[in-house]
Amino acid sequence: MNEQIQPILAGRKTLVVGVANEHSIAYGCAKAFRAAGSELAVTWLNEKARACVEPLATELGAAITAPLDVSEPGQLEALFDHIRQRWGRLDNLVHSIAFAPKADLQAGLLDCSAEGFAKAMDVSCHSFIRMAKLAAPLMTEGGALFAMSYYGAQRVVPNYNLMGPVKAALEAACRYLAYELGPAGIRVHPISPGPMKTRAATALKDFDLMLNAAAQKAPLGELVDIMDVGFACAYLASDFARRITGDVVHIDGGANVVA
Ligand SMILES: NC(=O)c1ccc[n+]([C@@H]2O[C@H](COP(=O)([O-])OP(=O)(O)OC[C@H]3O[C@@H](n4cnc5c(N)ncnc54)[C@H](O)[C@@H]3O)[C@@H](O)[C@H]2O)c1
Repeated sequence: MNEQIQPILAGRKTLVVGVANEHSIAYGCAKAFRAAGSELAVTWLNEKARACVEPLATELGAAITAPLDVSEPGQLEALFDHIRQRWGRLDNLVHSIAFAPKADLQAGLLDCSAEGFAKAMDVSCHSFIRMAKLAAPLMTEGGALFAMSYYGAQRVVPNYNLMGPVKAALEAACRYLAYELGPAGIRVHPISPGPMKTRAATALKDFDLMLNAAAQKAPLGELVDIMDVGFACAYLASDFARRITGDVVHIDGGANVVA
C-alpha cells in the first residue's frame, strides 16, 4: 500500500494513549496521525514501559511525552495540565488501552471476580470517560475522540469473556459522549478493529484461533494491521469525516457483515 498521505491533519494536536511497543494499535495511530501532519503527545504506562516507548515517541517527533497509568490518581489530570500549558488546546485523543487481570480474563464471565470486572471496566472503559471530560475543554475548535473496541462487544466471541461486556459498555459510552459533546463540535468514534497480534491480545486464550477465523471470515480475505486502523482513524479525525460521530466503525476486512 502507498503509505504517503496528504497532510489532512496539519496543525492538529493529537494525544495518543496506549503505545506499549511497535506492535501496538496506538503506535499505528500515532504513525498515521503524524504522517497526516498532526503534532503528537505520547504516553507510557510506567518506567519499565518507558524504555520501549520513548524511542518510538522520539522517532515520531512527539512534542509531548509523559507517563500515564490511568489507575494512578492525579496522573490524568497532570497530563492534561501539561498539554494545556504546552499546546493550549487539543484536537484529537486516541484511547487505545485495555486491561483485565489474567485469571479473570481467562475465566468465563460467570467466574470472573467482582474486583477483576471492576478493574477491567475502570481501565478499559471509565478511563475513556475521564479523558473525554478533561479533553473537551481543550477542544476549543471541536475535535475527535477515539476508543478501541472489538466485535466481542456486539456478538459472543469465544474466549473474549468479561471483555465482551466491558467493550459493550465502552461502545455505549461512546454513543452517549457523542450525544453530550456533539454540540461542542466534538465527535466520538468507537473503532472495532479485527484481531491483531499485540501484547494485549496474546493474553486471550487461543488467540491464534481468533486470528485464523478472522482471516477466513473477512470478505477481503486478509487480517488487518495497525496501519489500517491508524489511517482509518486519521481520516475520521479529518474534516472529511466532519458529520460522522457515535457510530462503531469496523476495520476488519468486512468480517462483521458475514454470519
Ligand atoms: N489486538 C487486537 O486484536 C485488538 C482488536 C480490537 C481491539 N483491541 C483493543 O485495542 C486497544 C489496544 O490494544 P493493543 O492490541 O494495541 O495491545 P497493546 O498491549 O499494545 O496495548 C494495550 C495498552 O494498554 C495500556 N494500559 C494497560 N493498562 C493501563 C493503565 N492502567 N493505564 C494506562 N495504560 C494502560 C498498556 O500500557 C498498553 O500500551 C485495547 O483497547 C484493545 O482491547 C485490540
